[in-house]
Amino acid sequence: MASPDWTNALYFGDNLNILREHIPDESVDLVYLDPPFNSKATYNILFREKSGEESAAQITAFDDTWHWDLGSEAAYRDVVANGPVKLADLLQAMHAFLGRNDMMAYLTMMAQRMVELHRVLKPTGSLYLHCDPTASHYIKLLLDGTFGAQNFNNEITWQRTESHNTADRYGNVADIIFYYTKTENRTWNRQFHQYPNGEQKYSDKQLKRFRHRDPDGRVYKLDDLTAPRPDSDSGKFEWRGTTPGPSRGWGYRLEQLEAWWDQGRIQTKRDGTPRMDGLKVYLDDTEGKPLQNIWTDVPRIANTSPERLSYPTQKPEALLERIIASSSNEGDVVLDPFCGCGTTVAVAERLGRRWIGIDITHIAIALLKSRLHDAFGDDLSPYTVIGDPKDVESARALAVESEHDGRYQFQWWALGLVEARPVKERGPDAGIDGFITFFDDESGRAKRIVVQVKSGQVARADIATLKGDVEREGAEVGLFVTLGEPTEPMRREAAAAGFYEPEHFPGQLYPRIQILTIEALLSGEARAEYPRMAPPATFRRAPRRRRAEGSQGALG
Ligand SMILES: C[S@@+](CC[C@H](N)C(=O)[O-])C[C@H]1O[C@@H](n2cnc3c(N)ncnc32)[C@H](O)[C@@H]1O
Repeated sequence: MASPDWTNALYFGDNLNILREHIPDESVDLVYLDPPFNSKATYNILFREKSGEESAAQITAFDDTWHWDLGSEAAYRDVVANGPVKLADLLQAMHAFLGRNDMMAYLTMMAQRMVELHRVLKPTGSLYLHCDPTASHYIKLLLDGTFGAQNFNNEITWQRTESHNTADRYGNVADIIFYYTKTENRTWNRQFHQYPNGEQKYSDKQLKRFRHRDPDGRVYKLDDLTAPRPDSDSGKFEWRGTTPGPSRGWGYRLEQLEAWWDQGRIQTKRDGTPRMDGLKVYLDDTEGKPLQNIWTDVPRIANTSPERLSYPTQKPEALLERIIASSSNEGDVVLDPFCGCGTTVAVAERLGRRWIGIDITHIAIALLKSRLHDAFGDDLSPYTVIGDPKDVESARALAVESEHDGRYQFQWWALGLVEARPVKERGPDAGIDGFITFFDDESGRAKRIVVQVKSGQVARADIATLKGDVEREGAEVGLFVTLGEPTEPMRREAAAAGFYEPEHFPGQLYPRIQILTIEALLSGEARAEYPRMAPPATFRRAPRRRRAEGSQGALG
Protein backbone atom coordinates (compact mmCIF):
# COMPACT_ATOMS: atom_id res chain seq x y z
CA MET A 1 0.00 0.00 0.00
CA ALA A 2 1.01 3.62 -0.46
CA SER A 3 3.82 4.53 1.85
CA PRO A 4 3.92 8.02 3.36
CA ASP A 5 7.36 8.79 1.93
CA TRP A 6 6.40 7.97 -1.64
CA THR A 7 5.87 10.57 -4.38
CA ASN A 8 4.77 9.74 -7.91
CA ALA A 9 7.40 10.73 -10.44
CA LEU A 10 7.71 11.84 -14.00
CA TYR A 11 11.22 11.51 -15.40
CA PHE A 12 12.50 13.28 -18.46
CA GLY A 13 15.36 11.43 -20.14
CA ASP A 14 16.58 8.12 -21.53
CA ASN A 15 14.87 5.37 -19.58
CA LEU A 16 18.02 3.22 -19.47
CA ASN A 17 19.91 5.83 -17.45
CA ILE A 18 16.90 6.65 -15.34
CA LEU A 19 16.22 3.02 -14.48
CA ARG A 20 19.86 2.49 -13.58
CA GLU A 21 20.24 5.65 -11.54
CA HIS A 22 16.86 6.09 -9.89
CA ILE A 23 14.80 2.92 -9.66
CA PRO A 24 15.79 0.48 -6.92
CA ASP A 25 15.75 -3.33 -7.22
CA GLU A 26 12.40 -5.04 -6.65
CA SER A 27 10.47 -1.81 -6.16
CA VAL A 28 7.85 -1.99 -8.93
CA ASP A 29 4.68 -4.09 -9.13
CA LEU A 30 3.75 -3.63 -12.77
CA VAL A 31 5.60 -2.48 -15.87
CA TYR A 32 3.80 -1.63 -19.09
CA LEU A 33 5.99 -0.61 -22.00
CA ASP A 34 5.07 0.51 -25.48
CA PRO A 35 8.44 1.19 -27.06
CA PRO A 36 8.84 2.67 -30.52
CA PHE A 37 8.74 -0.35 -32.83
CA ASN A 38 11.44 -0.20 -35.45
CA SER A 39 8.79 -0.01 -38.11
CA LYS A 40 10.84 2.78 -39.71
CA ALA A 41 8.13 5.29 -38.94
CA THR A 42 8.76 8.86 -38.01
CA TYR A 43 6.10 10.14 -35.70
CA ASN A 44 5.43 13.69 -36.59
CA ILE A 45 3.22 16.08 -34.84
CA LEU A 46 1.97 18.37 -37.49
CA PHE A 47 3.07 21.84 -36.62
CA ARG A 48 2.72 24.63 -39.07
CA GLU A 49 4.83 27.69 -39.50
CA LYS A 50 3.35 31.12 -39.12
CA SER A 51 3.17 31.24 -42.90
CA GLY A 52 0.88 28.21 -42.83
CA GLU A 53 3.60 26.04 -44.39
CA GLU A 54 4.31 22.70 -42.77
CA SER A 55 7.44 22.98 -40.78
CA ALA A 56 9.84 20.23 -41.76
CA ALA A 57 12.68 20.03 -39.29
CA GLN A 58 10.72 20.92 -36.21
CA ILE A 59 7.94 18.45 -36.13
CA THR A 60 9.39 15.11 -35.16
CA ALA A 61 8.13 14.06 -31.75
CA PHE A 62 10.17 10.89 -32.03
CA ASP A 63 11.14 8.39 -34.63
CA ASP A 64 11.43 4.70 -34.16
CA THR A 65 14.20 3.90 -36.59
CA TRP A 66 17.19 2.49 -34.85
CA HIS A 67 20.56 2.37 -36.56
CA TRP A 68 23.54 0.25 -35.75
CA ASP A 69 26.16 2.70 -34.52
CA LEU A 70 28.83 2.95 -31.86
CA GLY A 71 26.11 3.19 -29.20
CA SER A 72 24.57 -0.11 -30.36
CA GLU A 73 28.00 -1.72 -30.43
CA ALA A 74 28.60 -0.64 -26.82
CA ALA A 75 25.10 -1.75 -25.76
CA TYR A 76 25.63 -5.14 -27.42
CA ARG A 77 28.91 -5.68 -25.60
CA ASP A 78 27.29 -4.59 -22.35
CA VAL A 79 24.51 -7.19 -22.57
CA VAL A 80 26.83 -9.95 -23.78
CA ALA A 81 29.35 -9.27 -20.99
CA ASN A 82 27.02 -8.37 -18.11
CA GLY A 83 23.53 -9.59 -18.97
CA PRO A 84 21.95 -12.88 -17.89
CA VAL A 85 23.70 -15.82 -19.60
CA LYS A 86 20.66 -16.92 -21.61
CA LEU A 87 20.00 -13.41 -22.85
CA ALA A 88 23.66 -12.95 -23.77
CA ASP A 89 23.62 -16.24 -25.71
CA LEU A 90 20.44 -15.26 -27.49
CA LEU A 91 21.69 -11.84 -28.46
CA GLN A 92 24.84 -13.35 -29.92
CA ALA A 93 22.75 -15.83 -31.92
CA MET A 94 20.57 -12.98 -33.19
CA HIS A 95 23.67 -11.00 -34.06
CA ALA A 96 24.94 -13.95 -36.10
CA PHE A 97 21.58 -14.21 -37.86
CA LEU A 98 20.74 -10.55 -38.42
CA GLY A 99 24.16 -8.92 -38.59
CA ARG A 100 24.67 -5.30 -37.67
CA ASN A 101 21.43 -3.85 -38.99
CA ASP A 102 18.60 -1.61 -37.77
CA MET A 103 16.60 -4.51 -36.34
CA MET A 104 19.63 -5.68 -34.38
CA ALA A 105 20.14 -2.14 -33.05
CA TYR A 106 16.53 -2.11 -31.86
CA LEU A 107 16.74 -5.53 -30.24
CA THR A 108 19.98 -4.63 -28.50
CA MET A 109 18.49 -1.47 -27.01
CA MET A 110 15.45 -3.49 -25.91
CA ALA A 111 17.60 -6.23 -24.35
CA GLN A 112 19.47 -3.69 -22.26
CA ARG A 113 16.24 -2.22 -20.96
CA MET A 114 14.66 -5.62 -20.29
CA VAL A 115 17.50 -6.48 -17.92
CA GLU A 116 16.79 -3.32 -15.93
CA LEU A 117 13.03 -3.80 -15.97
CA HIS A 118 13.41 -7.35 -14.69
CA ARG A 119 15.69 -6.04 -11.92
CA VAL A 120 13.23 -3.39 -10.71
CA LEU A 121 10.22 -5.74 -10.65
CA LYS A 122 9.16 -7.19 -7.32
CA PRO A 123 9.01 -11.02 -7.15
CA THR A 124 5.21 -10.74 -7.46
CA GLY A 125 5.50 -8.26 -10.34
CA SER A 126 4.35 -8.42 -13.96
CA LEU A 127 5.54 -6.92 -17.22
CA TYR A 128 3.44 -6.20 -20.30
CA LEU A 129 5.35 -5.39 -23.46
CA HIS A 130 3.34 -3.88 -26.29
CA CYS A 131 4.72 -4.32 -29.81
CA ASP A 132 3.66 -5.36 -33.27
CA PRO A 133 4.47 -8.25 -35.60
CA THR A 134 7.45 -6.40 -37.08
CA ALA A 135 9.63 -7.56 -34.23
CA SER A 136 7.38 -9.52 -31.85
CA HIS A 137 8.98 -12.88 -32.69
CA TYR A 138 12.42 -11.60 -31.70
CA ILE A 139 11.09 -9.72 -28.67
CA LYS A 140 9.48 -12.86 -27.29
CA LEU A 141 12.80 -14.68 -27.45
CA LEU A 142 14.47 -11.81 -25.60
CA LEU A 143 11.77 -11.91 -22.94
CA ASP A 144 12.23 -15.67 -22.55
CA GLY A 145 15.94 -15.03 -22.15
CA THR A 146 15.36 -12.37 -19.48
CA PHE A 147 12.37 -13.70 -17.54
CA GLY A 148 12.64 -17.42 -18.28
CA ALA A 149 10.21 -19.19 -20.62
CA GLN A 150 8.36 -20.59 -17.58
CA ASN A 151 7.34 -17.03 -16.65
CA PHE A 152 5.64 -16.36 -19.96
CA ASN A 153 1.90 -16.09 -19.33
CA ASN A 154 0.19 -14.78 -22.42
CA GLU A 155 0.60 -13.39 -25.86
CA ILE A 156 -2.33 -11.01 -26.14
CA THR A 157 -3.56 -9.96 -29.55
CA TRP A 158 -5.21 -6.58 -29.49
CA GLN A 159 -7.24 -5.78 -32.58
CA ARG A 160 -6.39 -2.11 -32.71
CA THR A 161 -8.46 -1.20 -35.74
CA GLU A 162 -11.33 -2.62 -37.78
CA SER A 163 -9.51 -2.83 -41.07
CA HIS A 164 -6.25 -1.90 -42.68
CA ASN A 165 -6.17 -1.10 -46.33
CA THR A 166 -3.53 -3.46 -47.70
CA ALA A 167 -4.15 -4.62 -51.26
CA ASP A 168 -1.54 -7.33 -51.57
CA ARG A 169 -1.83 -9.20 -48.26
CA TYR A 170 -4.14 -9.60 -45.26
CA GLY A 171 -4.82 -6.36 -43.43
CA ASN A 172 -2.56 -6.00 -40.44
CA VAL A 173 -4.88 -5.00 -37.64
CA ALA A 174 -3.24 -6.59 -34.60
CA ASP A 175 -0.82 -5.44 -31.96
CA ILE A 176 0.86 -7.95 -29.70
CA ILE A 177 1.17 -7.59 -25.94
CA PHE A 178 3.42 -10.05 -24.11
CA TYR A 179 2.60 -10.73 -20.49
CA TYR A 180 5.46 -12.09 -18.36
CA THR A 181 5.85 -12.31 -14.62
CA LYS A 182 8.91 -12.45 -12.48
CA THR A 183 7.80 -15.58 -10.65
CA GLU A 184 4.81 -17.86 -10.54
CA ASN A 185 3.64 -16.16 -7.36
CA ARG A 186 2.28 -13.09 -9.09
CA THR A 187 -0.43 -10.51 -8.51
CA TRP A 188 -3.45 -11.54 -10.56
CA ASN A 189 -7.03 -10.30 -10.48
CA ARG A 190 -9.07 -12.20 -12.99
CA GLN A 191 -10.98 -9.83 -15.27
CA PHE A 192 -14.28 -10.44 -16.95
CA HIS A 193 -15.70 -9.32 -20.23
CA GLN A 194 -19.04 -7.59 -19.77
CA TYR A 195 -21.94 -7.70 -22.19
CA PRO A 196 -23.11 -4.14 -22.52
CA ASN A 197 -24.71 -4.49 -25.95
CA GLY A 198 -27.08 -7.33 -25.23
CA GLU A 199 -24.57 -9.86 -26.50
CA GLN A 200 -25.23 -13.40 -25.44
CA LYS A 201 -22.71 -14.80 -23.03
CA TYR A 202 -22.71 -18.38 -24.32
CA SER A 203 -23.06 -19.82 -27.81
CA ASP A 204 -25.78 -22.40 -28.47
CA LYS A 205 -23.15 -25.12 -28.43
CA GLN A 206 -21.83 -23.96 -25.06
CA LEU A 207 -25.35 -23.77 -23.63
CA LYS A 208 -25.72 -27.51 -24.17
CA ARG A 209 -23.08 -28.12 -21.51
CA PHE A 210 -25.31 -26.67 -18.78
CA ARG A 211 -26.96 -29.96 -17.98
CA HIS A 212 -26.52 -30.19 -14.19
CA ARG A 213 -28.81 -28.83 -11.54
CA ASP A 214 -28.24 -28.04 -7.86
CA PRO A 215 -30.92 -29.04 -5.27
CA ASP A 216 -31.98 -25.35 -5.28
CA GLY A 217 -32.60 -25.55 -9.02
CA ARG A 218 -29.59 -23.58 -10.26
CA VAL A 219 -28.29 -24.88 -13.55
CA TYR A 220 -24.59 -25.34 -14.05
CA LYS A 221 -21.87 -26.85 -16.21
CA LEU A 222 -18.63 -28.42 -15.01
CA ASP A 223 -15.29 -26.92 -16.01
CA ASP A 224 -11.85 -28.42 -15.72
CA LEU A 225 -9.82 -27.46 -12.68
CA THR A 226 -6.58 -28.68 -14.22
CA ALA A 227 -4.48 -27.60 -17.19
CA PRO A 228 -1.84 -29.30 -19.33
CA ARG A 229 1.60 -28.96 -17.75
CA PRO A 230 3.83 -31.32 -19.74
CA ASP A 231 7.05 -29.40 -19.11
CA SER A 232 6.55 -27.57 -15.85
CA ASP A 233 6.00 -28.29 -12.17
CA SER A 234 3.41 -25.59 -11.96
CA GLY A 235 0.20 -26.71 -10.19
CA LYS A 236 1.57 -30.18 -9.43
CA PHE A 237 0.55 -30.44 -5.81
CA GLU A 238 -1.85 -32.59 -3.85
CA TRP A 239 -5.09 -30.85 -2.97
CA ARG A 240 -7.68 -32.44 -0.68
CA GLY A 241 -6.42 -35.91 -1.49
CA THR A 242 -6.15 -35.45 -5.27
CA THR A 243 -3.10 -34.88 -7.46
CA PRO A 244 -3.54 -34.15 -11.21
CA GLY A 245 -2.22 -36.72 -13.71
CA PRO A 246 1.42 -36.84 -14.87
CA SER A 247 1.27 -34.22 -17.63
CA ARG A 248 -1.26 -31.93 -15.88
CA GLY A 249 -1.34 -29.53 -12.95
CA TRP A 250 -4.03 -27.59 -11.06
CA GLY A 251 -4.99 -24.64 -13.27
CA TYR A 252 -5.59 -22.37 -10.27
CA ARG A 253 -3.68 -21.40 -7.20
CA LEU A 254 -4.41 -23.11 -3.89
CA GLU A 255 -6.13 -20.04 -2.40
CA GLN A 256 -8.53 -19.88 -5.33
CA LEU A 257 -9.32 -23.60 -5.10
CA GLU A 258 -9.94 -23.30 -1.38
CA ALA A 259 -12.20 -20.27 -1.88
CA TRP A 260 -14.33 -22.23 -4.37
CA TRP A 261 -14.37 -25.21 -2.02
CA ASP A 262 -15.73 -23.01 0.77
CA GLN A 263 -18.37 -21.58 -1.60
CA GLY A 264 -19.53 -25.11 -2.52
CA ARG A 265 -18.41 -24.59 -6.11
CA ILE A 266 -16.43 -27.87 -6.30
CA GLN A 267 -18.14 -31.10 -7.32
CA THR A 268 -16.77 -34.03 -5.35
CA LYS A 269 -16.47 -37.73 -6.04
CA ARG A 270 -18.19 -40.32 -3.88
CA ASP A 271 -15.18 -40.44 -1.56
CA GLY A 272 -15.43 -36.68 -0.98
CA THR A 273 -12.31 -35.72 -2.92
CA PRO A 274 -12.58 -33.06 -5.66
CA ARG A 275 -13.35 -34.06 -9.24
CA MET A 276 -10.71 -32.72 -11.56
CA ASP A 277 -13.41 -31.46 -13.90
CA GLY A 278 -15.44 -30.31 -10.91
CA LEU A 279 -15.67 -26.52 -11.13
CA LYS A 280 -19.33 -25.53 -11.13
CA VAL A 281 -20.10 -22.62 -13.44
CA TYR A 282 -23.67 -21.38 -13.05
CA LEU A 283 -25.73 -20.24 -15.99
CA ASP A 284 -27.31 -17.40 -14.05
CA ASP A 285 -23.97 -16.09 -12.83
CA THR A 286 -23.97 -12.37 -13.58
CA GLU A 287 -20.21 -12.31 -13.88
CA GLY A 288 -19.11 -11.84 -17.50
CA LYS A 289 -16.92 -14.22 -19.42
CA PRO A 290 -13.30 -14.34 -18.25
CA LEU A 291 -11.09 -12.34 -20.57
CA GLN A 292 -9.24 -14.35 -23.17
CA ASN A 293 -6.03 -13.44 -24.96
CA ILE A 294 -7.68 -11.94 -28.03
CA TRP A 295 -9.02 -8.47 -27.35
CA THR A 296 -11.37 -7.16 -29.99
CA ASP A 297 -13.46 -4.96 -27.74
CA VAL A 298 -11.06 -2.09 -27.10
CA PRO A 299 -11.52 0.31 -30.00
CA ARG A 300 -8.85 2.73 -31.13
CA ILE A 301 -9.28 6.30 -29.97
CA ALA A 302 -11.68 7.97 -32.38
CA ASN A 303 -10.72 11.30 -33.91
CA THR A 304 -13.56 12.97 -32.08
CA SER A 305 -12.92 11.25 -28.72
CA PRO A 306 -12.29 13.61 -25.80
CA GLU A 307 -9.53 11.17 -24.82
CA ARG A 308 -7.57 12.00 -27.96
CA LEU A 309 -4.55 14.19 -27.34
CA SER A 310 -3.11 13.89 -30.83
CA TYR A 311 0.06 12.28 -29.59
CA PRO A 312 1.33 9.73 -32.09
CA THR A 313 0.74 6.14 -30.95
CA GLN A 314 -1.43 7.20 -28.00
CA LYS A 315 -3.09 4.08 -26.56
CA PRO A 316 -6.69 3.85 -25.32
CA GLU A 317 -7.25 4.13 -21.59
CA ALA A 318 -9.52 1.05 -21.69
CA LEU A 319 -6.53 -1.07 -22.70
CA LEU A 320 -4.44 0.09 -19.77
CA GLU A 321 -7.37 -0.16 -17.40
CA ARG A 322 -7.58 -3.85 -18.14
CA ILE A 323 -3.86 -4.46 -17.66
CA ILE A 324 -3.56 -2.41 -14.50
CA ALA A 325 -6.67 -3.95 -12.94
CA SER A 326 -5.48 -7.49 -13.77
CA SER A 327 -1.93 -7.24 -12.53
CA SER A 328 -1.84 -4.73 -9.70
CA ASN A 329 -3.73 -3.73 -6.60
CA GLU A 330 -4.55 -0.35 -5.16
CA GLY A 331 -1.42 1.35 -3.84
CA ASP A 332 0.90 -0.73 -6.06
CA VAL A 333 3.64 0.90 -8.12
CA VAL A 334 3.09 1.03 -11.89
CA LEU A 335 5.99 1.99 -14.17
CA ASP A 336 5.83 3.04 -17.83
CA PRO A 337 9.36 3.64 -19.16
CA PHE A 338 8.11 4.86 -22.59
CA CYS A 339 5.14 6.79 -21.27
CA GLY A 340 4.39 9.15 -24.20
CA CYS A 341 1.40 11.34 -23.40
CA GLY A 342 0.76 9.30 -20.28
CA THR A 343 -2.06 6.82 -20.81
CA THR A 344 -0.62 4.41 -18.23
CA VAL A 345 0.04 7.18 -15.75
CA ALA A 346 -3.45 8.67 -16.08
CA VAL A 347 -5.14 5.28 -15.61
CA ALA A 348 -2.83 4.35 -12.71
CA GLU A 349 -3.75 7.61 -11.01
CA ARG A 350 -7.45 7.03 -11.57
CA LEU A 351 -7.27 3.48 -10.20
CA GLY A 352 -5.41 4.58 -7.06
CA ARG A 353 -2.04 3.12 -7.98
CA ARG A 354 1.30 4.83 -7.44
CA TRP A 355 3.14 5.58 -10.67
CA ILE A 356 6.41 6.38 -12.41
CA GLY A 357 6.50 7.68 -16.00
CA ILE A 358 9.60 8.18 -18.15
CA ASP A 359 9.89 9.81 -21.57
CA ILE A 360 12.65 11.32 -23.61
CA THR A 361 10.75 14.16 -25.30
CA HIS A 362 9.52 17.35 -23.74
CA ILE A 363 6.31 17.31 -25.73
CA ALA A 364 5.31 14.02 -24.10
CA ILE A 365 6.08 15.40 -20.66
CA ALA A 366 4.22 18.66 -21.39
CA LEU A 367 1.14 16.81 -22.66
CA LEU A 368 1.21 14.44 -19.73
CA LYS A 369 1.39 17.29 -17.21
CA SER A 370 -1.55 19.09 -18.75
CA ARG A 371 -3.45 15.78 -19.09
CA LEU A 372 -3.10 15.07 -15.36
CA HIS A 373 -3.95 18.63 -14.46
CA ASP A 374 -7.07 18.56 -16.62
CA ALA A 375 -8.27 15.11 -15.65
CA PHE A 376 -7.77 15.28 -11.89
CA GLY A 377 -7.52 18.96 -10.92
CA ASP A 378 -7.11 19.22 -7.17
CA ASP A 379 -7.61 15.47 -6.68
CA LEU A 380 -4.28 14.75 -8.34
CA SER A 381 -1.76 13.02 -6.07
CA PRO A 382 1.46 15.01 -5.67
CA TYR A 383 4.20 14.21 -8.17
CA THR A 384 7.68 15.42 -8.96
CA VAL A 385 9.26 16.00 -12.34
CA ILE A 386 12.87 14.86 -12.50
CA GLY A 387 15.41 15.56 -15.24
CA ASP A 388 13.81 18.80 -16.43
CA PRO A 389 15.76 22.04 -16.16
CA LYS A 390 15.54 23.28 -12.61
CA ASP A 391 17.44 26.56 -12.96
CA VAL A 392 17.90 29.30 -15.52
CA GLU A 393 21.31 27.99 -16.57
CA SER A 394 19.92 24.59 -17.53
CA ALA A 395 16.92 26.20 -19.20
CA ARG A 396 19.32 28.28 -21.28
CA ALA A 397 21.31 25.14 -22.10
CA LEU A 398 18.10 23.42 -23.23
CA ALA A 399 17.25 26.39 -25.48
CA VAL A 400 20.70 26.24 -27.11
CA GLU A 401 20.60 22.44 -27.33
CA SER A 402 17.27 22.56 -29.13
CA GLU A 403 18.41 25.18 -31.69
CA HIS A 404 18.45 22.42 -34.28
CA ASP A 405 14.74 21.73 -33.82
CA GLY A 406 13.69 25.37 -33.84
CA ARG A 407 13.80 25.40 -30.03
CA TYR A 408 10.70 23.25 -29.84
CA GLN A 409 12.07 21.13 -27.00
CA PHE A 410 12.57 24.31 -24.99
CA GLN A 411 9.15 25.60 -25.90
CA TRP A 412 7.42 22.34 -24.91
CA TRP A 413 9.27 22.29 -21.62
CA ALA A 414 8.29 25.92 -20.87
CA LEU A 415 4.65 25.16 -21.72
CA GLY A 416 4.79 22.24 -19.29
CA LEU A 417 6.01 24.66 -16.62
CA VAL A 418 2.71 26.55 -16.76
CA GLU A 419 0.70 23.36 -17.48
CA ALA A 420 -0.32 24.67 -20.90
CA ARG A 421 -1.08 22.38 -23.79
CA PRO A 422 1.04 22.80 -26.93
CA VAL A 423 -0.86 24.10 -29.94
CA LYS A 424 -0.93 21.64 -32.76
CA GLU A 425 -1.69 23.67 -35.78
CA ARG A 426 -1.08 27.33 -36.17
CA GLY A 427 -3.17 29.47 -38.42
CA PRO A 428 -1.45 31.58 -41.07
CA ASP A 429 -0.96 34.54 -38.80
CA ALA A 430 -1.14 33.09 -35.35
CA GLY A 431 1.96 32.89 -33.24
CA ILE A 432 0.41 31.12 -30.30
CA ASP A 433 2.44 28.31 -28.74
CA GLY A 434 0.00 26.92 -26.18
CA PHE A 435 -3.33 27.25 -24.43
CA ILE A 436 -4.65 26.97 -20.93
CA THR A 437 -8.37 26.91 -20.44
CA PHE A 438 -10.28 27.50 -17.26
CA PHE A 439 -13.84 27.75 -16.05
CA ASP A 440 -15.05 30.60 -13.87
CA ASP A 441 -18.78 30.16 -14.12
CA GLU A 442 -21.37 27.42 -14.28
CA SER A 443 -22.12 27.84 -17.98
CA GLY A 444 -19.68 25.10 -18.97
CA ARG A 445 -18.07 27.46 -21.46
CA ALA A 446 -14.29 27.31 -21.18
CA LYS A 447 -12.32 30.55 -21.02
CA ARG A 448 -8.93 30.69 -22.66
CA ILE A 449 -5.44 31.86 -21.97
CA VAL A 450 -3.11 32.01 -24.95
CA VAL A 451 0.54 31.36 -24.24
CA GLN A 452 3.62 32.61 -26.07
CA VAL A 453 7.08 31.27 -25.24
CA LYS A 454 10.29 33.11 -26.12
CA SER A 455 13.82 31.93 -25.55
CA GLY A 456 15.66 34.68 -27.44
CA GLN A 457 15.67 38.47 -27.54
CA VAL A 458 12.37 40.04 -26.52
CA ALA A 459 10.96 43.51 -27.24
CA ARG A 460 7.85 45.64 -26.84
CA ALA A 461 6.56 44.53 -30.24
CA ASP A 462 6.23 40.94 -28.91
CA ILE A 463 3.76 42.13 -26.30
CA ALA A 464 1.83 44.11 -28.88
CA THR A 465 1.61 40.96 -31.02
CA LEU A 466 0.39 38.90 -28.06
CA LYS A 467 -2.31 41.51 -27.38
CA GLY A 468 -3.44 41.11 -30.98
CA ASP A 469 -3.47 37.31 -30.56
CA VAL A 470 -5.57 37.55 -27.40
CA GLU A 471 -8.13 39.71 -29.19
CA ARG A 472 -8.26 37.64 -32.32
CA GLU A 473 -8.66 34.37 -30.36
CA GLY A 474 -11.31 35.87 -28.09
CA ALA A 475 -9.14 34.83 -25.12
CA GLU A 476 -9.40 36.31 -21.66
CA VAL A 477 -5.70 36.45 -20.86
CA GLY A 478 -2.35 36.35 -22.69
CA LEU A 479 0.70 34.81 -21.07
CA PHE A 480 4.18 35.73 -22.21
CA VAL A 481 6.78 33.27 -20.93
CA THR A 482 10.32 34.49 -21.49
CA LEU A 483 13.82 33.28 -20.78
CA GLY A 484 15.26 36.79 -21.16
CA GLU A 485 14.39 39.70 -18.86
CA PRO A 486 11.52 41.84 -20.12
CA THR A 487 12.29 45.50 -20.81
CA GLU A 488 10.53 48.43 -19.20
CA PRO A 489 8.59 49.31 -22.42
CA MET A 490 7.37 45.69 -22.50
CA ARG A 491 6.05 45.95 -18.97
CA ARG A 492 4.34 49.24 -19.79
CA GLU A 493 2.75 47.76 -22.90
CA ALA A 494 1.48 44.82 -20.84
CA ALA A 495 0.13 47.07 -18.08
CA ALA A 496 -1.76 49.15 -20.65
CA ALA A 497 -3.85 46.08 -21.55
CA GLY A 498 -5.73 46.37 -18.24
CA PHE A 499 -7.47 43.54 -16.43
CA TYR A 500 -9.82 40.63 -16.90
CA GLU A 501 -12.64 40.75 -14.36
CA PRO A 502 -14.79 37.59 -14.23
CA GLU A 503 -18.47 38.40 -14.41
CA HIS A 504 -19.23 36.21 -11.42
CA PHE A 505 -16.39 37.47 -9.26
CA PRO A 506 -16.60 41.25 -9.48
CA GLY A 507 -13.59 42.95 -7.99
CA GLN A 508 -11.19 40.08 -8.75
CA LEU A 509 -8.76 41.46 -11.27
CA TYR A 510 -6.37 39.44 -13.40
CA PRO A 511 -3.88 41.23 -15.69
CA ARG A 512 -4.91 40.68 -19.31
CA ILE A 513 -1.30 40.39 -20.40
CA GLN A 514 1.07 38.67 -17.99
CA ILE A 515 4.81 38.47 -18.44
CA LEU A 516 6.40 35.55 -16.60
CA THR A 517 10.12 34.95 -16.63
CA ILE A 518 11.43 31.40 -16.55
CA GLU A 519 13.45 32.39 -13.50
CA ALA A 520 10.37 33.52 -11.56
CA LEU A 521 8.46 30.41 -12.58
CA LEU A 522 11.29 28.11 -11.55
CA SER A 523 11.75 29.78 -8.18
CA GLY A 524 8.00 29.72 -7.55
CA GLU A 525 7.93 33.53 -7.21
CA ALA A 526 5.37 33.86 -9.97
CA ARG A 527 2.66 31.86 -11.63
CA ALA A 528 -0.07 32.47 -14.13
CA GLU A 529 -2.91 34.41 -12.52
CA TYR A 530 -6.41 33.34 -13.48
CA PRO A 531 -9.52 32.20 -11.62
CA ARG A 532 -8.73 28.82 -10.16
CA MET A 533 -11.85 28.30 -8.11
CA ALA A 534 -13.35 25.87 -10.59
CA PRO A 535 -11.17 23.08 -12.00
CA PRO A 536 -9.16 24.22 -14.97
CA ALA A 537 -9.37 22.39 -18.26
CA THR A 538 -7.17 22.82 -21.26
CA PHE A 539 -7.91 22.77 -24.91
CA ARG A 540 -8.81 19.25 -25.99
CA ARG A 541 -9.15 18.66 -22.37
CA ALA A 542 -8.68 15.17 -20.97
CA PRO A 543 -12.06 14.02 -19.61
CA ARG A 544 -12.22 14.80 -15.95
CA ARG A 545 -11.78 11.73 -13.81
CA ARG A 546 -12.10 10.84 -10.21
CA ARG A 547 -9.51 8.62 -8.67
CA ALA A 548 -10.41 4.95 -8.31
CA GLU A 549 -13.52 5.51 -10.36
CA GLY A 550 -12.58 2.74 -12.77
CA SER A 551 -14.46 -0.47 -12.38
CA GLN A 552 -14.94 -3.66 -14.21
CA GLY A 553 -18.12 -2.28 -15.65
CA ALA A 554 -16.02 0.09 -17.70
CA LEU A 555 -14.05 -2.67 -19.31
CA GLY A 556 -16.56 -4.35 -21.50
C1 LIG B 1 4.99 4.40 -28.80
S1 LIG B 1 5.22 5.84 -27.84
C2 LIG B 1 4.32 5.53 -26.36
C3 LIG B 1 2.90 6.03 -26.39
C4 LIG B 1 2.16 5.82 -25.07
N1 LIG B 1 1.89 4.43 -24.83
C5 LIG B 1 0.87 6.62 -25.01
O1 LIG B 1 -0.22 6.07 -24.83
O2 LIG B 1 0.96 7.85 -25.17
C6 LIG B 1 6.89 5.64 -27.39
C7 LIG B 1 7.44 6.76 -26.53
O3 LIG B 1 8.76 6.38 -26.12
C8 LIG B 1 9.55 7.55 -26.01
N2 LIG B 1 10.95 7.10 -26.03
C9 LIG B 1 11.67 6.65 -27.08
N3 LIG B 1 12.91 6.27 -26.69
C10 LIG B 1 12.96 6.48 -25.35
C11 LIG B 1 13.98 6.29 -24.36
N4 LIG B 1 15.17 5.79 -24.68
N5 LIG B 1 13.71 6.62 -23.08
C12 LIG B 1 12.47 7.12 -22.75
N6 LIG B 1 11.48 7.32 -23.64
C13 LIG B 1 11.72 7.00 -24.92
C14 LIG B 1 9.10 8.40 -27.19
O4 LIG B 1 9.39 9.76 -26.95
C15 LIG B 1 7.60 8.11 -27.22
O5 LIG B 1 6.89 9.08 -26.48
